[in-house]
Amino acid sequence: MRKLDTKTLVVASHNKGKLREIADLVAPYDIEIKSALELDLHEPEETGTTFEANAYLKAHAAAKTTGLPALSDDSGFCVKAINDDPGLYSARWAGVSKDFNMAMRNVIEKLQAANKLSGKENTGAYFVSVICLAWPDGHAEYFRGEVHGEAVWPPRGDQGFGYDPMFQPEGETRTFAEMSAEEKHGNVSGDPLSHRSRAFKLFVDQCLQA
Ligand code: IMP
Repeated sequence: MRKLDTKTLVVASHNKGKLREIADLVAPYDIEIKSALELDLHEPEETGTTFEANAYLKAHAAAKTTGLPALSDDSGFCVKAINDDPGLYSARWAGVSKDFNMAMRNVIEKLQAANKLSGKENTGAYFVSVICLAWPDGHAEYFRGEVHGEAVWPPRGDQGFGYDPMFQPEGETRTFAEMSAEEKHGNVSGDPLSHRSRAFKLFVDQCLQA
């Protein structure tokens, strides 16, 4: 496992919700972050067929352009009864206008139709985050985090971003959008909660600590 050997890290994302969460997670460490958004880096097309492949496309493009190690997150919301959709295509379901109310409605309509057809009440859902740390020479390390729970309807809460209002993690009574950022991250160094903070803990344990 290659360790992070610089104090500056590029975060290869233009998604403000993700950037805010990654900035929170990096804050306790002695690392300066520069985002692809502020560096105005080109966003590569996500043509991969796995979270890992798309995470690599983003991190490696940013590392090659800047000459610095770059970290990306490829993530998605997966609903079990509809073949883990929207999954890899979570951002695309919101369209160019990034309308997540429309995307969430689309998810619930498909889920209700699938459950009607099967006669089951399967609301199982999970978030995936694959963090990729890539270097300009092409080397990369991957860290995967998942959080399982239920797709709920109607959506609840106005914090967070994306599909947060319709996801309730196992053992919780609130959706991610009803939690503060700290609550959604959970105890990052001990028992992280969100998919992203779970992936991030693996990154810290394996790449940052001696
Ligand atoms: P991508 O990784 O940039 O392809 O986009 C991932 C998409 O998944 C985001 O635009 C969100 O729609 C969704 N997503 C990923 N992580 C979260 C999260 O923590 N909360 C809510 N939605 C998320």
